[in-house]
Order: sequence, then structure tokens, then C-alpha cells
Amino acid sequence: MKDVESIEQFESRKVEHIRVAMDPAVQSLGAGFDSVSFVHEALPEIDFEDVSISNQIFTDSKFAKDFRSPFFVSSMTAGHDDSGRLNERLAACADSEGWAMGVGSQRRELFDSGAALEWKRIRTKFPNVTFFGNIGLSQLIHTEVSVVRRLVDNLEATALIVHLNPLQEVLQVEGTPRFRGGLLAIETLVRELGCPVVVKETGCGISGPTAHRLFSAGVSAVDVAGRGGTHWGRIEGVRATSNPKDAVRAKAAESLGDWGLSTVDSLRQVLQVLESSRPNATAQPSANAISRPEVWASGGVRTGLDGAKALALGASQIGVAQPLMAAALKSEEDLRQVMQRFDFELKAVLFCQGVRSLSELRSRGQWTFLERGGGL
Ligand SMILES: Cc1cc2nc3c(=O)[nH]c(=O)nc-3n(C[C@H](O)[C@H](O)[C@H](O)COP(=O)(O)O)c2cc1C
Repeated sequence: MKDVESIEQFESRKVEHIRVAMDPAVQSLGAGFDSVSFVHEALPEIDFEDVSISNQIFTDSKFAKDFRSPFFVSSMTAGHDDSGRLNERLAACADSEGWAMGVGSQRRELFDSGAALEWKRIRTKFPNVTFFGNIGLSQLIHTEVSVVRRLVDNLEATALIVHLNPLQEVLQVEGTPRFRGGLLAIETLVRELGCPVVVKETGCGISGPTAHRLFSAGVSAVDVAGRGGTHWGRIEGVRATSNPKDAVRAKAAESLGDWGLSTVDSLRQVLQVLESSRPNATAQPSANAISRPEVWASGGVRTGLDGAKALALGASQIGVAQPLMAAALKSEEDLRQVMQRFDFELKAVLFCQGVRSLSELRSRGQWTFLERGGGL
């Protein structure tokens, strides 16, 4: 690989990312959830105990998975001293609460085979958790599929998530803003990997036309990871500010601090693409075919109500990152409580809509769009 960073620099960058991600100043505004409003059902005609938030992904394929909750741990950290402890907490709570878990970038495993031990240990301890692997597109472009497959195997992952982060790569001092050949690399991965490929952003959203290219490449799901929560332009801006040599990057990060498509706008665009076109899935061999590609939502999901809105709009499952890391840094109990709050709030919404299940929420949920005047 082309990295000139030492392992020590790699680790200290990962640790710094977690620290800076906890600063409220790196949260961007306007995920768009306040533009969606449910119509309250005062006569629900069901009991609260009738409500189930169980969910299935990759339906009608050999990769189908059932969960007790539609929320999942959005990809975060890996490959440094403290990540084993944090990931163990995340996996323990994903296990007890029935959430899936996206793991943080497995980039270190590409150049340090010992790094896989972190996941092998966690996998042994939590054999029932559904994991999604993770790699950045700028690494994928330069990596053989056979090597990428090892990342999936190390984790016994159900799917591989490829993250797109052009803004972060360009603002990060150590970044690799090289995305030429990205779509071709994704097409090749879809064809050869042997498990579902999901493509996500990291907080700047995915537009309808870009989603169309991804679905045409045969990806099984697009996770919009829109603007409105953790913003990697802001995070790299804070990091650049600490070094006078990086003044240009720091200033640029300030100018681009609200760059991106909001989660709700992105979700609407990507869902529309999926509904209006049946993308040609020639790049996808039948053994790995997902009959219906999915749209996942994340970015600034801070309550079960936010998640309910994304599900009502049509998202298949909902990722949460920063609030889980903030809780995991405190304790496993704090983390479990946050996850239970998300689930409970979602159930409360279903009850106050008079619907028993997520499929009923999607088909019978009553909500309206409030037109926003100006703003983001
Ligand atoms: C500490 C931290 C580390 C992250 N590392 C990764 C990563 O390695 N790979 C990835 O795809 N996304 C990564 N993300 C991005 C999240 O998965 C998510 O897309 C983004 O934070 C927006 O979600 P949020 O607003 O709920 O935080 C990271 C986020 C945080 C907070």
C-alpha cells in the first residue's frame, strides 16, 4: 500500500478521531428530520405489547438476516490500542439488543496481519452478532479482491461496507484523495467478493444520480450517511487547526463545514431512484443476487423518532454512530441504555401510529412534510 504513515501515526490518528468526534462543534446541522412530522393517532386500537420492531435485510436472498431492531451500529473504530475494548462493548450490546454492527475501517489489516486478531477474538466471544466489514474506497481501488475477501473472512461478516469520504480525504493532512477508478473497483468487488456489498458515505450524503451508478454496479444497499450529524470535514478541520502548517486546510474545512446533502434529502433522492428505475444488475452474478437492493439511512440519527421517520420514508435499516461511541466511552451500561432508548422511542412511535410492525409503518404510517423556509 502507498501509505507513508507509520503504525504509531496511524494509531494516534484513529485515537484523535474518536476524541475530536466527541466535540459538539463537529456535529453539522440540518439532517432534515424536523421536516417530517407524524400525524398522531389518538385511537390506535392496539396494545403496546403488540408492537414489534423486528426487521429483515437482504430479503429473499441467501444472505437474508433477521434482527430484533432495525437500528445498527454504524461503522466506527478499529486498529488501535483502545479499539478492542470499545468494539467489545459495542459487540456485547449489539448481541444483547439484537442490533447488527458495522465495524470500523479494516484498513490496518491490509498491512498488518496481526490486526485481524482484534476481530477474531470478538467474533469468538459473540458468535451470533451480524457484522458488516468496512473498507474505504481509496484503499479498495488499490487492493486485490482476494485480499479484501480476507477482511470479510476474518470477521465472518455478512456483508462488506465500502465507505466513500472524498471530503475527509481531501481535508485530512494524511489523506489519500484518490478516487479514480472507484466505480470500476466497486463493480469488480460486487462481481467477485461472494457476499453483499453496501456502499455508504460518512456524513455528506449520496445523491440520486450517484446512487443510480452504484445500483447499476450491482451493490446490495446504499447507506446514505447524510449531513446532519458527525461531519468529517469539521473533524479534519479541528485536527488541522492544531498545526500552523495546515492553516489552508483548517480554513477550507471551515468554509466547507456544512458541505453535503442532508440525510433526509439524500434518502428521498436515493429512494426515488430505486423506485423509478429497475437498475440493470448485469454486474451481479446470480449467486450473490439481492432481488431488491436496499436503501439504508444514517447521519445525524439521534433519537428513535428520527429513525422512525427514515423508516416511514422507506429506509430498510438505520445506522447510528456518534451517540453510541459517546456512550461506549463511558460504560457498557450507558451504551445499552442508549440502544434501548432508540428501540423504545421507535416502538412508542409505532404505537402512536396504531401500527404493529415496520412494514405497517412503511405502508400505513401517517406523516407529512413540513416545507422549510430557507435554511440549510
Ligand atoms: C469515531 C468515529 C469513527 C468512524 N470511523 C468510520 C470508519 O472507519 N468507516 C466508516 O465507514 N465510517 C466511519 N465513521 C462514520 C460513521 O459510520 C457515520 O457515517 C457518521 O459518523 C455519521 O453518523 P452519525 O451522525 O450518527 O455519527 C466514523 C464515525 C465516528 C464517530
